[in-house]
This record gives sequence, C-alpha cells and structure tokens, in this order.
Amino acid sequence: MERFLITGGKTLSGEIPVKGSKNAALKLMAASLLFDHPVTFSNIPDINDIHSMKKLIELAGGKTYSEDDQITLDNSKLISSNLDCDIAKRIRASIVLIGPLLARIGKASFPHPGGCVIGKRPIDYFVEGFKKLGARITLSDDGYKFSGRLRGNDIFLPFPSVTVTETLMMASAIAYGQTIIKNAAAEPEITQLAELLRLGGADISGAGTNTIVINGTNSRLLRMKDPAPFKIIPDRIEAGSFVILGALLSDCLKISNCCPEHIESLLYTIESAGAKLTRGEDWIKVGRSNDIRSVNITTGPYPSFATDLQSPFSIFLTQAQGESMIFETVFEGRLAYLEEIKRMGANIILCDPHRAIITGPAKLRAREMESPDLRAGLAYIIAALVAEGDSVVHNVYHIDRGYERVEERLRNVGASIQRVQV
Ligand code: UD1
Repeated sequence: MERFLITGGKTLSGEIPVKGSKNAALKLMAASLLFDHPVTFSNIPDINDIHSMKKLIELAGGKTYSEDDQITLDNSKLISSNLDCDIAKRIRASIVLIGPLLARIGKASFPHPGGCVIGKRPIDYFVEGFKKLGARITLSDDGYKFSGRLRGNDIFLPFPSVTVTETLMMASAIAYGQTIIKNAAAEPEITQLAELLRLGGADISGAGTNTIVINGTNSRLLRMKDPAPFKIIPDRIEAGSFVILGALLSDCLKISNCCPEHIESLLYTIESAGAKLTRGEDWIKVGRSNDIRSVNITTGPYPSFATDLQSPFSIFLTQAQGESMIFETVFEGRLAYLEEIKRMGANIILCDPHRAIITGPAKLRAREMESPDLRAGLAYIIAALVAEGDSVVHNVYHIDRGYERVEERLRNVGASIQRVQV
C-alpha cells in the first residue's frame, strides 16, 4: 500500500505536459479486436487501467508488444470470448470489449461490472442495445452471457452514455446491415474511435453528433491501410485538472500537449470566475488571480461541463468569493467526497445526492484522507496542495488507475508531494 505525503501552500510554476487520454486509449485498445492485423497506438499513458486492459486482451488470446509510449495489439488469433473476471470487475471500461467480442466471435460473457465507486452504474443500456442488435442475453450469478449474430437496427439511448455509444459502435462496425444510434454521446473519445474504425475500413458517419450511422461490413474484419501508429488524443480530464491547479496555485503554469478545444466548458467557466488564461492550439497558460468569484456549474454530456472535472473544480470553488452551486446530473452519489473537503474547513452544504452549495473563500486545513475513487482522489491532492500544513492521501492505487506518476510531474512544477510505502 502506498500513500502521498503532501505539504500545501507551495507556488507552482513551469510546464506540465498532459499524457494520452485514458478513456480514449481503453476503447481504442478494445477496438483493435475488430482488426485482423496488428494495430499500433502511440501516446499511451502508463497507468494501471491500461495495464489491466492489456492483460484482459492477452488472456483472450491477443498478443501485445509495448515500447515507450507505444503499444501494438495483434488480435489476428483471438481465442476466447470469456473475460478474466477479476480484472473485468476492477475496470468498468472493460465492458466495451463485449462489443467487438460478440461481433467477431458471436459470444461474450461479462461479470457484474466494477470500477469507480460513484453511485449506481447499471448496464441496462448495454443489454437493451445488444437486444436491439439481435443478441441473446442470459443472466446468472456470475454475470451476463451474450450470443448471436448481430444485425443492425435503430437504437435510441435514454441517456447519451459514453461507453454504451462506443460499445455499440464497435459491435455495429462489423455487424450485418445498418445501425443508427440516436441520442449518442459526442465526447472527443468517440470521435477518435470512429476515426480509427474508419481507417480500418468501417463505414461510420456522425460521430461527434448525437446521431451516428454505421453500415456494417457483414462480418469482414477491419485492417489499417497505413501501419503508422495511431496517436491517442490528450487526456482532457488531466488537462482540465492541471488548469484548475494552475488557477489556484501558480504564477504561471503552462499545460502543454493538450487540446484546449476539448475543455471549452471548463475554460469558459473558470475564466468567468476570474482566472487568467491564455491558450494556443495545444497549450494553455494559467495563473492565479486575486479576484476569484463564485460560479455555478451543471455537469452534463459533452460539450457540457464534464462530470470528471466536477471534483477538482469543487476545490477551486472553495477558494472563490461567494456562494457557488454544483449540480451533478450525470451520476448519483458523486458528491460524497465533499464530506472530507468539509472536514478540511470548507463551507459546503450537501443539499441532496446531486447538489451542493460551496461558500468561499475558506482556509483549508491539512488532513489525512482516503481517496474514494480516481477523480475525487485527484481532487484531494489539489485540496492538500492548497491547504496549509502536511496532508496524507491514502489509497493511491485509485489515482494510479488514471494518472501517470502524477507526483513526479507535480514535483517538477514545484509541488511538495512524495509517494511512500505504508
Ligand atoms: C464514461 C467515462 C467516465 C465519465 C463518464 C461520463 C470511460 C471509461 N469512463 O463512463 O470517466 O465519468 O463517461 O462522462 O470512458 N447508465 C445507465 N445504464 C447503462 C449505462 C449508463 O443508466 O447501461 C447511466 C450511468 O449510470 C450514468 C449515465 O448513464 O448516470 C452516464 O454514464 P456513462 O456515460 O455510461 O458513463 P461511462 O461511460 O460509464
């Protein structure tokens, strides 16, 4: 077990480069199961969720080769439609593998899902979507079994779920006939997934809008014409979290290797709260301002304010003058981490499972905290960097799931943070 020791109050400066997107990389690795030739990706983050996905694919018969920030996946000889239960339960994103497995092998099984502890995370939209594509589904104590030959259909999603959109896109890419996904999610990770599938010969249009049309290849596997590595987009949640950190603690922090266009909602909101920003095509510079004002946020599907940026942004709001409201509409139970921020001295009223009122500015006191999940874990690090004194953040493994050696990168810009073995 490891923990972070953090001494707050240090001013940050310099440049912090953003790594490749976890949520894009996981789905692109899954999509490689639709290819009959090796596919190479670059800008792969070195994080635990990626290692788990790699292991799952290897256990299903795929071959993987990693070097620096590149990974090659050769799934020409997939042998198993069963996913390793322990790993699949650990990362919820592994559910996307059902799409390519079912489309390619005609069956797939999946344990009851796991992942971050952020309220109810059912899989009913996946099940309904696969039923629409003609799959048979049985449920047992171990989990779900899917089978059948997939045929395209019209599918309306009750909510624009990211992983459901991606899973159904992958399944439909090599299914028979046309699939239209309505009320689809439009996150940049989805646009990039469509780009990869198209490069492999799939017929997909509309990704990045709320209607995606896929004409299946009638079971023909995909193949890249150009073997050059496919570069993963920068992680927009990491970029946004660093922007928040810079607005709180730096004279000037440059966030590089990022895509400002993917976090317009955060940049708009933080600027309206008084933060000073400049930006280029792939960088953002941010410094703290003496005049940070309260602002309300409502999380929602892209391009609205990302739910994954809600927890780091709440720390920013504890330092803003006045009363701010957070309205979390995507997940239920994603505000529980605020109890710990209250104990640090923040003035927060938890109104209900979806809404909180934060009144600032408040002086945060150092504390010993247990990271409850990936995103709240990073929020605790930010809070500890703002607080006066020495804090401890436990359960570092949650943070390692999604942020590559975050303590080294934060130290490089002046933060006092050490990883220690317990
Ligand atoms: C993805 C991201 C996660 C992000 C979230 C929302 C990955 C690996 N994870 O998660 O970081 O926080 O998008 O931007 O990409 N829902 C159902 N039934 C289902 C599926 C989803 O009710 O079958 C609900 C969820 O409970 C939630 C909402 O739909 O309330 C949106 O969730 P969804 O977009 O599916 O999140 P994920 O794709 O799991």
